[in-house]
Amino acid sequence: MAQEQKPTGPDLTKGVAAEDFRDGKILGHVGEDEVLLVQAGHEIFAVSAHCTHYHGPLAEGVVVGESLRCPWHHACFDLRTGEATRAPALVPIQCWTVERRGTRIFVKQKREQPKPRSKKARPDAPTSIVIVGGGAAGFAAAEMLRRRDYGGSIVMLSNDSAPPVDRPNLSKDYLAGNAPEDWLPLRPDDFYAANGIDLRLNTEVTGIDLRAREVILVSQKNVPYDRLLLATGAEPVRLSIPGADLPHVHTLRSLVDCRAIISDAKSARRAVVIGASFIGLEVAAALRAREIEVHVVAPEARLMERVLGPQLGDFMRALHQEHGVIFHLQDTVAAIDGNRALLKSGDALEANLVVAGIGVRPRLALAEQAGIKIDRGVAVDSYLQTSVRDVFAAGDIARWPDAHSGDSIRVEHWVVAERQGQTAACNMLGLNERFDAVPFFWSQHYDVPINYVGHAEHWDQISIEGSIEQRDCLLRYKRAGKLLAVASIFRDAENLQEELALEQAH
Ligand SMILES: Cc1cc2nc3c(=O)[nH]c(=O)nc-3n(C[C@H](O)[C@H](O)[C@H](O)COP(=O)(O)OP(=O)(O)OC[C@H]3O[C@@H](n4cnc5c(N)ncnc54)[C@H](O)[C@@H]3O)c2cc1C
Ligand code: FES
Repeated sequence: MAQEQKPTGPDLTKGVAAEDFRDGKILGHVGEDEVLLVQAGHEIFAVSAHCTHYHGPLAEGVVVGESLRCPWHHACFDLRTGEATRAPALVPIQCWTVERRGTRIFVKQKREQPKPRSKKARPDAPTSIVIVGGGAAGFAAAEMLRRRDYGGSIVMLSNDSAPPVDRPNLSKDYLAGNAPEDWLPLRPDDFYAANGIDLRLNTEVTGIDLRAREVILVSQKNVPYDRLLLATGAEPVRLSIPGADLPHVHTLRSLVDCRAIISDAKSARRAVVIGASFIGLEVAAALRAREIEVHVVAPEARLMERVLGPQLGDFMRALHQEHGVIFHLQDTVAAIDGNRALLKSGDALEANLVVAGIGVRPRLALAEQAGIKIDRGVAVDSYLQTSVRDVFAAGDIARWPDAHSGDSIRVEHWVVAERQGQTAACNMLGLNERFDAVPFFWSQHYDVPINYVGHAEHWDQISIEGSIEQRDCLLRYKRAGKLLAVASIFRDAENLQEELALEQAH
């Protein structure tokens, strides 16, 4: 039987001394609850010690004004209300009342969840909002509309068969067999009806009639809107080689894709992963956890060089090799012949399972056909509004003016998609919020997380602090002396500090 974990630190109901604060925090407990005391200016707050996203240790986070940022994936919580103000956390943390007596601080009872203090929907808010897409951006937008007390209708149209899921998990713990399927839904099935969100699954949107302000469905039962959010995400690039349509050849985007890979993995001895992308490599790691022999075939000479630079790329290769992955670099799969992957070099690899991770393409067809401005993505302004006033776009499809790099950029990051969904929701309610978050993504390979903040498409210098080999490092990517992005392994608090520096730099 699992041992019950005793909460650590002092019993905060018995009081702690003001001088016991370290780095502005004291980790203790109230009964069975782990509670964190946090100093922010002259005030002291008591909140849950763990993040509501993946349970990250908030004691290792960074306090910014009256908010606390999580070290793992940079969620942000309002210390006064507990509200999760920045994704990827969407659920508030709990708050306790605090009392000072002389120099001692006592934590009293848990507070009823305080109301978020952020702006509410304007009285002239639209009455019907349609969201196309049931992924990161679409879900975060719907949730935020209700959080902002929007009382009108929300219709969320998704051609997926599953309600919104935690997509990053599909190439990590769930695929590795370390997470049950009930961890995947972003909310329980009854959340949608309970919050007046008309989620329509298996619903293909085929067009937008901008003049009639209607979304066109395959069923021809068109859905009218006052405001429309396009959040159609991206789709995996499919292989175009002989054998690509064999049943054991997969791509990975949806829960259905992931279930199919897991089903084949149960009997597979050997897998070939095509492409050394983040997804390809995460899939390789997950399949190794299932003790399947894994071969990765990719055209580049060096892994991840274009995204992370040569030093981290070489580390990734060594890390995967240490876990038994066999690389076939500077090679491609020319054909799949039954259970054999035939390489361009002439080699043949036995493969009971093939997963292609060769990139994604943003799903732009709806916007394009409607005549909405496209610029290597759906072009949006800093309010995430497209070239058409009532139509917004967020997530993998959106190209926005990034205040930090000065470029217009489009990224494929979970946290960015959710935060854009949240900002677009506020702007559909007329709240005029700029999207100015510094991009952030993470990736996980075995027990090694990589956190990346900022955006560096091209750089001329990488400076390295710490040791990559010892998995304790921070890399700064600069162009003409300007800091563009930072990647780190096990330097989470510093990564958060770098996020702050990037925010303040423009
Ligand atoms: C396996 C996997 C692992 C990942 N891991 C990470 C990670 O670790 N870190 C990270 O930062 N990012 C990660 N990503 C990327 C991240 O998931 C995406 O950036 C994010 O999901 C984008 O959100 P989105 O809302 O734009 O699109 P999506 O989440 O893809 O949602 C798009 C939705 O639109 C629907 N749709 C599309 N077209 C139509 C249509 N015509 N009609 C109706 N519905 C439609 C789709 O069914 C889907 O529901 C991962 C992606 C994958 C696939
Ligand atoms: S665990 Fe806190 S943001 Fe992920």
